[in-house]
Amino acid sequence: MKPRRGTVTKMNDLTQRFETMAALIDEASVLLDAQSKVVAANAKALDLLGSHIIGFPLDRFLRHPDFAEAVRAAHQEDRLTTLDYTRMDQVRRAFSLRLARFDDAHVILLLLDGTMGLSVDRIRSDFVANVSHELRSPLTALLGFIETLQDGAVEEPDSRAHFLSIMEDEATRMQRLIDDLLSLSRVEAEEHRTPDEAVALQPLFEELVSVMKRAAEKSNKTIAIDIVPELKGAELQVQGARDELRQVFENLVENAIRYGRPGSEIVLRIGVGRLAGGQMREDLLRVQVVNQGDTIAPEHLARLTERFYRIDKGRSRQMGGTGLGLAIVKHIVNRHRGRLRITSEGGETTVSVTLQRFN
Ligand SMILES: Nc1ncnc2c1ncn2[C@@H]1O[C@H](COP(=O)(O)OP(=O)(O)OP(=O)(O)O)[C@@H](O)[C@H]1O
Ligand SMILES: [Mg+2]
Repeated sequence: MKPRRGTVTKMNDLTQRFETMAALIDEASVLLDAQSKVVAANAKALDLLGSHIIGFPLDRFLRHPDFAEAVRAAHQEDRLTTLDYTRMDQVRRAFSLRLARFDDAHVILLLLDGTMGLSVDRIRSDFVANVSHELRSPLTALLGFIETLQDGAVEEPDSRAHFLSIMEDEATRMQRLIDDLLSLSRVEAEEHRTPDEAVALQPLFEELVSVMKRAAEKSNKTIAIDIVPELKGAELQVQGARDELRQVFENLVENAIRYGRPGSEIVLRIGVGRLAGGQMREDLLRVQVVNQGDTIAPEHLARLTERFYRIDKGRSRQMGGTGLGLAIVKHIVNRHRGRLRITSEGGETTVSVTLQRFN
């Protein structure tokens, strides 16, 4: 028994030293072994890279062509290495990665966020330009119709009813846009606090299906809930905020209804969580919203969670879309320290949300 206990103490010493150092530096920090496997990480790093990285090779979560070589150089040659690294989340974020030897068997990695200094102004001004543009088109339409009504159309009952109905649609669109923007900023403001209620998925989904069934039927689609055999009878609770998770799945089902092929089925599947490499993780649950429709091309796929990004602007707008739905989803999933993945193959689009199981 003795040697084992010895190893444990040594490990604790190591992580304790790392934690003290990480607390002092106050930047996203990760402790790696010589094979790039994550031994420890501070809260900032877990926020950034995901809560499931401990015990796994980091290059699975942080893809950079020179990463393995930088770890080797830091470890074997005691050489401090710096790499530039860009992540595409909701926004483009630039990081500077710094690697240095920690002890004989370990390397410390810092991720310094360069987004702040580099492009935050650019992101802000793009955002304001986008919002203004999105608000301007319904506003222009409204003003146009008001003018038409003032020019005499108000006297003709048929055209009056017609114009008023279009005006209602336009005003509703503006209202949705503003609601979505407020939602987004609320979630963003709260992003550093991880929600911790127990949320039972099955009743949540049943409620959602009953609310959205009508909309699905209108476009001739059905919605089914599917629980994988391994989880039948199990308690399907995740750690989170119920309202926010409801918003996530409402947005995803709404997209499936909107962009799916008429006559097809939408499936809400609850399964065991898996890591990027495919291994099962019993402490995670994975929910997939699957729909049939056009395959989304890879160049679009990578950008769908950007604010206002729409593959077919006209089509989305015609259906009342603002292009903020998936950006909100992404932020909420981030706040839950979960994982969001969108794949599309052979006419089937799957959005997977992996969340921490409640225990
Ligand atoms: N299931 C899907 N199948 C095909 N395309 C999709 C699917 N989900 C999303 N998209 C594409 O991704 C874009 C962005 O989706 P997102 O939900 O962010 O915005 P939206 O649906 O256009 O508007 P909003 O959700 O704000 O009402 C959509 O415009 C659409 O082009
Ligand atoms: Mg949407």
